Amino acid sequence: MASTRVTDPIPQTPTATIPNLGASKASIQAHYDREPRLYERFLGASLAYSAGIWIEPSNRDTLEAAQLRKLDWHIDISGAESAQRVLEVGFGWGSLIKRLITRRPDLDYVGLSLADNQAEYVRRYAPENFKTELAAWQVYQTNRPFDAILSLEAMEHFAGKTADRNERIEAYRLFFEFCGRALRVGGRASIQVNGWANIAPGSEARHIAESRIDGFWTEGNLPHASEMLLASEPWFNLVHLEGKPHDYVYTLRAWLRNLRSHEADLNALVGPEMVSDYIRNLTLCLKAYVGGAVTLYRLVLERKGPVVA
Ligand SMILES: C[S@@+](CC[C@H](N)C(=O)[O-])C[C@H]1O[C@@H](n2cnc3c(N)ncnc32)[C@H](O)[C@@H]1O
Repeated sequence: MASTRVTDPIPQTPTATIPNLGASKASIQAHYDREPRLYERFLGASLAYSAGIWIEPSNRDTLEAAQLRKLDWHIDISGAESAQRVLEVGFGWGSLIKRLITRRPDLDYVGLSLADNQAEYVRRYAPENFKTELAAWQVYQTNRPFDAILSLEAMEHFAGKTADRNERIEAYRLFFEFCGRALRVGGRASIQVNGWANIAPGSEARHIAESRIDGFWTEGNLPHASEMLLASEPWFNLVHLEGKPHDYVYTLRAWLRNLRSHEADLNALVGPEMVSDYIRNLTLCLKAYVGGAVTLYRLVLERKGPVVA
């Protein structure tokens, strides 16, 4: 993407620390700070803890190919390929970092995460220009704008589990305001997030999804598409929005296959309780997807401002 510098019409006041309306650091660490070899076995070589982009029929595709396609999709549409400076919110086990090291080894990259194990794991292989910070976006500050922001399946943690629609919109507004301040005019944010599909409350699939959010991703919540659009409007124009539940159905099936085929090995590594907990929870997530309660959003936004071609 051409990096056109224009005057920013939105005042850039220094960002004070933003209140955390979502998951606590303790609950994030309880979920993610586990034995990396558990994740290596079930997520596969990409170590992406988010849905891939699958071609159909899915039995002609593989988890690895789907994950690579997903990473390249976000890199391409966000403009990260031609960017000087990129921010990732929630770098997980570093799947995007690995891909960017291959595609843009010279990139000025900053990644944020709250999980110590993940940061330690990624720092073992990431070069110096790929900086990983153990910091929430709510406290991260920079005085140099980014050209692109990517955030794959971290937004599920940004609103509290009891938040109603208005409270979710407020939590997401704080996030998009952060992105708006961190991005140059014309810069893009590419976001992937599990969200509510348009299904009547009270259905079995919805109930399963709610119980998983409560019991598995302790302090999480999910957005409706309309909430993300309302929350991002003051700072962004919409470039792309899609709902792709099948991408998660195929990804969950592949993760479950991996867990089952490594079950004996994983039982010895992390204990049968944790392995069966993952199998049970991912099976329920799959049911929530197949039942139509949840969907997978990909949302691409462009920072508002005059654009000079
Ligand atoms: C499901 S993982 C996704 C990881 C990665 N994007 C991927 O696709 O594999 C969610 C990530 O979001 C991070 N996270 C959650 N809340 C955060 C916050 N407030 N600030 C920064 N990172 C956060 C977690 O530490 C974790 O790395």
